[in-house]
Amino acid sequence: MITAPTLIQIQLGEHGYPIHVGRGLLRESALMQAVAPKGRILIVSNETVASLHLGALQASLAGREVAVCLLPDGEAYKTLTTLEQVYDQLATARINRDGVIFALGGGVVGDIAGFAAATWHRGIDCVQAPTTLLSQVDSSVGGKTAVNHAQGKNLIGAFHQPKAVIADLETLATLPDREYSAGLAEVIKYGLIRDVEFLVWLENTMPRLLKRDYAVLQEAVSRSCAHKAAIVALDEREAGVRALLNFGHTFGHAIENAVGYGQCLHGEAVAIGMVLAAETSERLGWIDAASVTRIRNLLSRAGLPVNAPRIGVTRARELMELDKKVQAGKVRLVLLKQIGDAVVTADYDNKVLDAVLEERMA
Ligand code: NAD
Ligand code: GLY
Repeated sequence: MITAPTLIQIQLGEHGYPIHVGRGLLRESALMQAVAPKGRILIVSNETVASLHLGALQASLAGREVAVCLLPDGEAYKTLTTLEQVYDQLATARINRDGVIFALGGGVVGDIAGFAAATWHRGIDCVQAPTTLLSQVDSSVGGKTAVNHAQGKNLIGAFHQPKAVIADLETLATLPDREYSAGLAEVIKYGLIRDVEFLVWLENTMPRLLKRDYAVLQEAVSRSCAHKAAIVALDEREAGVRALLNFGHTFGHAIENAVGYGQCLHGEAVAIGMVLAAETSERLGWIDAASVTRIRNLLSRAGLPVNAPRIGVTRARELMELDKKVQAGKVRLVLLKQIGDAVVTADYDNKVLDAVLEERMA
């Protein structure tokens, strides 16, 4: 039995939009035409994803003026140089103010295409069609768009909400296992920061989730998107509560940076970071040792690493202090008051953080 698609509406006034989650959505011509009812279209994708899923989208958009821009694959290409390629194609395809960009791919394609849409003609419509689990549950929702600068990730960017998000679960069938597990880290994150009942459900359904059972996947992606939509609706520009989405990310960014992007996937670094954040919470006396073990077990069962690379305490500190969440010299961390209840705080004893880094990263 095929479950009907889920529709989640993100409540952002005139910038609000639908998130469609379901099987075979890229092949649903009526839906694809409806989310981009007028104007010329540029599909931005990469070579890997295009060879697998571009045909379905193109067929659905038959009868429209559609051009395609294929980017090289990889985080290394999330640059201004690649962005310029997109602008060249937008110009060649004569995409003007009423044109639409479709971003077909993972978070890298989504972030570049989204930023191109934010800036072309001072902002045109973008439809996100995410094809990795991470992009379906996180990066395609919420309007953060960016490219990297030599000095750091995502330094050049804009908030630009998409017109719609189309999460076609069938695209996940071709995703490599490692990338799939990396996406599960972000799914588990929602349970840890704000929904213990979802966490229990993930614990119970992990075997089916790992088999990519569509019914379970639809529930996992939909519930994750609903969490992200609720948080973004409260705090679109990350003035407060949206920072909770960075649970595990301050440690994780330091790890990614130290071991080299591509060596450790973002979701893998976040998984290790969530364990370190949980251990910090435990040392503060907020959660118990059994809770930390529970978190480690679930992440391991999802195929994720849980032990930090020994990058050294000084290096870890340095890299964590580069984080955007540093205020008045103190690293603000997302920590757990309990499982399912996270806080953003700089109100902790630095010696506690040092002890965790010493034990896990020295
Ligand atoms: P990615 O876009 O690099 O995709 C991972 C790999 O999977 C790539 O090689 C890609 O070509 C391939 N791929 C994509 N879909 C596939 C499919 N269906 N079948 C087979 N292969 C497929 O990585 P990602 O994890 O999706 O995204 C990471 C990026 O997202 C980072 O640049 C990160 O900064 C960004 N991000 C942005 C936000 C945001 O809010 N904007 C949030 C989290 C992460
Ligand atoms: N991925 C974090 C955010 O969108 O805020």
